[in-house]
Amino acid sequence: MAKTKSVYICSECGAMSPQWLGRCPSCGKFGTLVEEIAETPTPQKAAKRERSASFNKPVALSEVREEKFERISSGIAELDTVLGGGIVPGSLVLIGGDPGIGKSTLLTEVSAHLSKTQKVLYVSAEESCSQVKMRCARLKLDSSNLLLLNETCLEDIEEAIEDEKFVVIDSIQAVYTSELSSAAGSVGQVRECAGKLQRIAKGRGITFFIVGHVTKEGALAGPKVLEHIMDTVLYFEGEKEDNFKILRAYKNRFGSVQEVGVFEMTGEGIFGVTDYSDIFLSENRGQAAGSCVTPSETGNRCMMVEIQTLMAKTAYGLPRRMPLGIDYNKLVLLIAVLEKRCGLPFYNQDVYLNAMGGIRLNEPAVDLAVCAALASGFRNEPIDKYTAVFGEVGLTGEVRGVTFAEKRVNECIKMGFKKVIFPAKNFKSVKKFEGKIELVPVQYVNQAIKNLFTDQEKSKEAK
Ligand SMILES: Nc1ncnc2c1ncn2[C@@H]1O[C@H](COP(=O)(O)OP(=O)(O)O)[C@@H](O)[C@H]1O
Ligand SMILES: [Mg+2]
Repeated sequence: MAKTKSVYICSECGAMSPQWLGRCPSCGKFGTLVEEIAETPTPQKAAKRERSASFNKPVALSEVREEKFERISSGIAELDTVLGGGIVPGSLVLIGGDPGIGKSTLLTEVSAHLSKTQKVLYVSAEESCSQVKMRCARLKLDSSNLLLLNETCLEDIEEAIEDEKFVVIDSIQAVYTSELSSAAGSVGQVRECAGKLQRIAKGRGITFFIVGHVTKEGALAGPKVLEHIMDTVLYFEGEKEDNFKILRAYKNRFGSVQEVGVFEMTGEGIFGVTDYSDIFLSENRGQAAGSCVTPSETGNRCMMVEIQTLMAKTAYGLPRRMPLGIDYNKLVLLIAVLEKRCGLPFYNQDVYLNAMGGIRLNEPAVDLAVCAALASGFRNEPIDKYTAVFGEVGLTGEVRGVTFAEKRVNECIKMGFKKVIFPAKNFKSVKKFEGKIELVPVQYVNQAIKNLFTDQEKSKEAK
């Protein structure tokens, strides 16, 4: 095949250059030039363009034929849930995540399951066929019909695909197209390869599962356009050392992005967790100071998550803030609120925070529980084991109402909690639970802290 000509285009201003430059001569930005295939309009192409213009006429919505697609089960119930009820034939699904989190393991299991009923091709661009075979053996998978291909050139992969309806590409950063001279994994390559895979998927009705790596900053390596091309983008979350991983949908053209799947990683493979009620709680909660449990809405599920904090005296100058599972800025902000509005000084304390089980808590409803855990750590008084806390905290120290209050309180009751502290704004919607659990509506953070600790003192005295 003749080598296609490529050009370098600035991703910021669109300026074109025949060779790569560190700095765009037009807009002056550094490192923005990306290789792309140069499109030269030939007479044949121009003619084709005219013809196709006459073919695609606007049609009335009522005349558009509805395409019915039957979803196929992936064999893993949690994955089906995240996909919106199963795999949609002809779709492109991107699975992103840190190295070693279990992307290849999950897709090997899915391919082995699907290969029992249809032709499946597993393109392993990173590992050799024998490595994949070893993994299948370790996971005890029946994969005798699974087709393996160890190839990195996209054109060769395209040729190798015959009548398979399901293809796994592991990973997009390891494949390259021979039309571009840049290295595999570069922005231009990833974009071009993804575009080509999309054309194959839509043209031939093949379902693609594509593995994508995540950069240190947490974004998918490669351009944002990779996410635009895909029908569904899933991310694997969780700390590498923890057994539990969360699969979350970030984009889904065929389902809700509210769903999450909880997986457990073991030596025998990756399993969907159906009973996730106490996996984010520690066994000896309630004994040590500095921890607080909150009902957190992750995806469409409400889970009880324990937030643990630890304070240590600052040894050198600036105090450290080290949160795991919540945003750094959020922790700094909540510490400032506690200092200013509740009179708890943290200026000479290093603060470490950890959400149990490696879960990431992004919603504002965890704010009050973080404050409660910090206050508990600071006062060196544990919070009662059967008390849960939720609510958003504003800069003035007020506790704001949150969504799904009813669901959260319900989960607390289900898990045997005896008291829940929550925003007064949500009282109306949870009033019906009175009698089943002690309801403590609060308007300000210090009300919550006062209730948590003075009440406990009272009950200790009573004992
Ligand atoms: N032989 C083995 N025995 C037990 N666990 C293994 C073995 N090989 C790999 N693993 C575990 O499987 C996990 C997932 O690996 P893998 O699916 O290849 O990750 P990814 O494709 O996301 O980089 C790794 O974290 C590793 O600890
Ligand atoms: Mg892998």
